[in-house]
Amino acid sequence: MSGWDDLTDGSMTNLTERRVAWITGAGKGIGRALAKRLTLDGWTVAVSARTENDLASLEAECANGTVHKFPLDVTDVDATTKVIKDIEAKLGNINLAILNAGTHQEVTASHFSREPFQKLIDINLMGTVNGLSEIIPRFMERRAGHIAVVASVAGYRGLPTSAAYGASKAALINMCESLKPELDANDVKLQLINPGFVKTPLTDKNEFSMPFLMSLDDAVERIVAGLKSNTFEIRFPRRLAWILTAFKLIPDALYFAITRRMTRP
Ligand SMILES: NC(=O)c1ccc[n+]([C@@H]2O[C@H](COP(=O)([O-])OP(=O)(O)OC[C@H]3O[C@@H](n4cnc5c(N)ncnc54)[C@H](OP(=O)(O)O)[C@@H]3O)[C@@H](O)[C@H]2O)c1
Repeated sequence: MSGWDDLTDGSMTNLTERRVAWITGAGKGIGRALAKRLTLDGWTVAVSARTENDLASLEAECANGTVHKFPLDVTDVDATTKVIKDIEAKLGNINLAILNAGTHQEVTASHFSREPFQKLIDINLMGTVNGLSEIIPRFMERRAGHIAVVASVAGYRGLPTSAAYGASKAALINMCESLKPELDANDVKLQLINPGFVKTPLTDKNEFSMPFLMSLDDAVERIVAGLKSNTFEIRFPRRLAWILTAFKLIPDALYFAITRRMTRP
């Protein structure tokens, strides 16, 4: 059952009726905007990221008691376990876990090194796995709960400069596909969120052109609509997602002819 199943509108004000969502990477960008948006649908939102000031300002921007900060570095296994316990002790059982914390770093063949791989696998993949390790047993035992993992359309096929980022996101996509049937059988809803380019502090750093760049508000509305649905994969913007899906189907020779043209000299 998902947390929206018995919410008919966004008008709930009684705190005892509120559902609890936990969002990682909620200090900035997609996670922060999503946290604000969920409060409008009646959720109590536990927010995690490493920068406590970001979480404090988010708490202050939202209606009293709707957002609660739980600072966390998702790469820290013990701290992740503690935060989940603390959230449930303070706010009640988590109904919706959105594992969104992630970052990006370019990798090219000419500047290939272990460091960005270690960093992106630790944060993007293992940071998500650390949360899931604590959330999945709880939700399976309760035979309830809703998990959403934020990956990326960059995980579909290898894109130039994305060797580490794409690898971490491809792993998340594969992992979710693997887990879904068993979670379904235990009444735990699992969804995969695969955004294209969304304007956030993360993409503000990019110097390359970002086709179909989407506003944060549009992206968040797509995510919320998707979370309310029973679709497995929530992906947007549609045109970029279709192009990258088509890339999975075309012959390698054609794919590499296209990506070679994207590779900067
Ligand atoms: N924006 C896009 O175009 C786009 C496209 C596809 C997928 N995504 C994915 O969407 C997610 C959010 O991206 P965004 O664009 O919103 O990024 P963002 O603006 O950089 O925000 C990322 C958030 O994650 C937090 N974070 C980073 N490392 C963390 C860690 N080790 N532990 C806990 N929190 C951590 C950051 O806060 P602290 O640094 O304070 O911890 C920040 O609050 C990421 O997984 C990203 O890969 C984004």
